[in-house]
Amino acid sequence: MLRICFCCCFFLAGCFSSVAQDFYDEPYRPQIHFSPREHWMNDPNGMVFFDGIYHLFFQYFPDSTVWGPMHWGHAISRDLMHWSELPIALYPDTLGYIFSGSAVVDSSNTSGFGKRGQIPLVAVFTQHDPRGEKQQTGLFQNQSIAYSIDKGMTWQKNRGNPVLKTPGLKDFRDPKLSWYAEEKKWIMTLAAGDLIFFYSSKNLKNWKKESEFGRGLGAHGGVWECPDLLHFAIAGKKIWLLIVNMNPGGIQGGSGTQYFIGNFDGKNFKCNDTLTKWMDYGPDDYAGVTWSNTGNKKIFLGWMSNWQYAQRVPTERWRSAMTLPRLLNLKNIRGRYFTTMTPVPSLEKLTRKTLYCDKISSEKRFPLSGPVRIDFKILRLNTFTITFSNALGQELRVGYDQAKKSFYIDRTLAGRSNFDPHFAAVHYGPRIALTENSSITLVLDNASLEFFGDEGLTTMTEIFFPDTAFDAMQIKSAKGAGFQELFIRTLKPVWKKDQK
Ligand code: FRU
Repeated sequence: MLRICFCCCFFLAGCFSSVAQDFYDEPYRPQIHFSPREHWMNDPNGMVFFDGIYHLFFQYFPDSTVWGPMHWGHAISRDLMHWSELPIALYPDTLGYIFSGSAVVDSSNTSGFGKRGQIPLVAVFTQHDPRGEKQQTGLFQNQSIAYSIDKGMTWQKNRGNPVLKTPGLKDFRDPKLSWYAEEKKWIMTLAAGDLIFFYSSKNLKNWKKESEFGRGLGAHGGVWECPDLLHFAIAGKKIWLLIVNMNPGGIQGGSGTQYFIGNFDGKNFKCNDTLTKWMDYGPDDYAGVTWSNTGNKKIFLGWMSNWQYAQRVPTERWRSAMTLPRLLNLKNIRGRYFTTMTPVPSLEKLTRKTLYCDKISSEKRFPLSGPVRIDFKILRLNTFTITFSNALGQELRVGYDQAKKSFYIDRTLAGRSNFDPHFAAVHYGPRIALTENSSITLVLDNASLEFFGDEGLTTMTEIFFPDTAFDAMQIKSAKGAGFQELFIRTLKPVWKKDQK
């Protein structure tokens, strides 16, 4: 395998980003979200923070803009906004394609991969064997590991792969690692059919099954995929969050991300709230999990698409982008915990120009140009619509429906949709906050909108394909929703370094 030193990688990264400047401006190309230079991408993988660098690996097929034999693509960032794409980190081999998985910093070298005091990073991923799949053996998804002793820049596969074989389940994948400090052991959270299996290990190589979770709980309209297990310290208590992606059967059809709140004791996850909850009520946030090694700060990232149409969306050189990295938290609303997600603070650093407005009338048209973050403060929440439009009369509508007590995004008139019969639709997300006042943050980036209502208690992510970018915004409010303040922040594209 080609070995490249850390500095060379930065040199290479530099070359790639200057190439990037030539063509990161195609129609629909996100300007502040990560997307691969070219070809197909799905789930974020192996997200790990180490030595000041956020690593992002991703399901990648370097030969086409549709899904194929999976590799792990690789990108790095210091601020979660500016990304440098690096050479592919993991290639398929005789054990199969490289499916989704995670990575950790093995600080005490439990794996023994570190030599001479080096701290190894260890990745675990599913190897999907396409021959076994064809022969319907039921034995084709097994877990393998790889390690890096150069701070995550290059990776070697473990000789003894796979480290965890399927018990005969055809869907047995997407391992997510976490450290269970109380018993000094690693936990692997794995999707198995439409359940979660937990395994533990002292060395990341020998795994023991601890328990199963999910029978009769949550949504089961599809296969469970890409789980994540993490905890938050709230008022001196540990509250555990189990994220479970599922496809199909998501809240808006196709792919969706549900979660469970409960307790994990190193063996069992016990859910203490049986309400089915979704992390994002839009259709286009899937396979999201969090970075490891970020301490108490939890940073979530999803794939900004949906398996219902991901392979047919009208982009040419590349297919799909990630969501914005989001700070993930829990909030207690009348005794129940809900997730909140908000853009990471480094988004603010991209601000090029701020427009502030405290006299908001419905006639006023706000011109927009390029990626933008819009923040509204609302005194008394009531029915309203915000319309993004272009000169061709195409529109994306975002609003609140008081009768339904729901926020919504309507992309029925937002441009091209003929690639999928389900695409042109209105999506509703329930309002979870109970206050009279509200706040809304919208991030519009060419062909995507992320909606964060009530500091991220209701989050919705949508992609859309207008023939020209939306360049105006208008607010309509039937009953005079108490819009108090508005900030429009025009953002600097992350791919163009020279832009002021
Ligand atoms: C989720 C998923 C994973 C799998 C990967 C394959 O989108 O289906 O379960 O590991 O994509 O690319």
